[in-house]
Amino acid sequence: TWTAGSYIENEIAKIRSTVGDAQVICGLSGGVDSSVAASLVHRAIGEQLTCIFVDTGLLRAGERESVERTFRAHMGIKLEVVDASDLFLDRLAGVEDPEAKRKIIGHTFIDVFEDASARLGGDAQFLVQGTLYPDVIESLSVKGPSATIKTHHNVGGLKEDMKFALIEPLRELFKDEVRQVGRELGLPEEMVGRHPFPGPGLAIRVLGAVDRRELEVLRQADTIYLEEIRSAGLYDDIWQAFAVLLPVRSVGVMGDERTYENVCALRAVTSRDGMTADWYPFPHDVLARISTRIINEVAGINRVCYDISSKPPATIEWE
Ligand code: XMP
Repeated sequence: TWTAGSYIENEIAKIRSTVGDAQVICGLSGGVDSSVAASLVHRAIGEQLTCIFVDTGLLRAGERESVERTFRAHMGIKLEVVDASDLFLDRLAGVEDPEAKRKIIGHTFIDVFEDASARLGGDAQFLVQGTLYPDVIESLSVKGPSATIKTHHNVGGLKEDMKFALIEPLRELFKDEVRQVGRELGLPEEMVGRHPFPGPGLAIRVLGAVDRRELEVLRQADTIYLEEIRSAGLYDDIWQAFAVLLPVRSVGVMGDERTYENVCALRAVTSRDGMTADWYPFPHDVLARISTRIINEVAGINRVCYDISSKPPATIEWE
C-alpha cells in the first residue's frame, strides 16, 4: 500500500541519482504543489537547490510577502524573488484567448527562469515542477491535441527549446496524496491545506484581455471573498474558491447615481482531485455578506453572481 513516507524515500533516491552534483532551480508559486515539490527536492539535495519566486503581476494580494516569509524564515531554502510583472503584463496586453494567454505565461516563466539561472551562476541543468497526475491527464488527452481540455502551463505550455531538464517528483500523485507528502515533510498546515491556485494566476480569472486596473479590481474582490469564507469557518470545507472578473458591464444604482460597471462571478467548489467538482452550497447569509461587501468596497464592481455549475460540463476555472 501507498505511504507518504516510502514515496518520499523513493523520490529522494531518484532525485539524487538524476541530479548528481548539478544545480537545480525550482519555480515556487506559494501553492501546495510547488511548495511540496521544493521541500522534497530540498530534502534530497539541500544547497544545490535554489527556489525562484516570480512576481508575475498576476498574483493574489499579499502572496509575494507570504511566500518570502514562509520559505526564508521557516524552511531555510535558498530563495530568489524576481519581479517580472512588467514583462508578463506587456506580453499579455490585448491577448484574449485563454490558451494563448497560458502559452505566453508558460514561455515567459521559462525566460525568467533562464535569466535568473544565468544571473545565479548559469549552471542550473534541472527545473523542478509541481506537476500532478491530473495536470498530465487534462493537458495531454489520449484523443490527441484537439481534445486537450486546458494546457496547464507546467505540462503543455513549456518552450520546446528550453535548456532545463524537468524534475517532476509529484507527477504520479493526486492532490490529497501531495498533501500527505507535505505533512510528512513537516510543512505547516496553512501551506499544505491551501486551496489550489493555477500557474497562470489571475490572468485566467480576468476574462479576455488583462490589464493592471482589472487585476487590481479582481484582487480586492478576491481578498474580501476569502476573508469572509475564512471568518465563516468554511475554508477547509471547500476545494477551491475564487472570484472572476467578467468582461460584462451592468447598470446599477449607488446612492442616487447610476453606475455602469463590471460583473463579478464567485466560484466555490468541492472536489477530491479537481477532475470533477460540485458547486459549494454556501449558507445564504454568507453569500449575502460577501456580495454586500464586494459591491460596497470595490470600485469597479456593481453586481455579484454565484456560479452554480458543476464540472463536468463546466470546468472549475472560467478559462
Ligand atoms: P479546470 O479549470 O481545468 O481546473 O477544471 C482544474 C484544476 O486545475 C487548475 N488549473 C490550472 N493549474 N495551470 C495550473 O497550474 C493552469 O493553466 C490551470 N488551469 C486550471 C484549476 O485551478 C483547478 O484547481
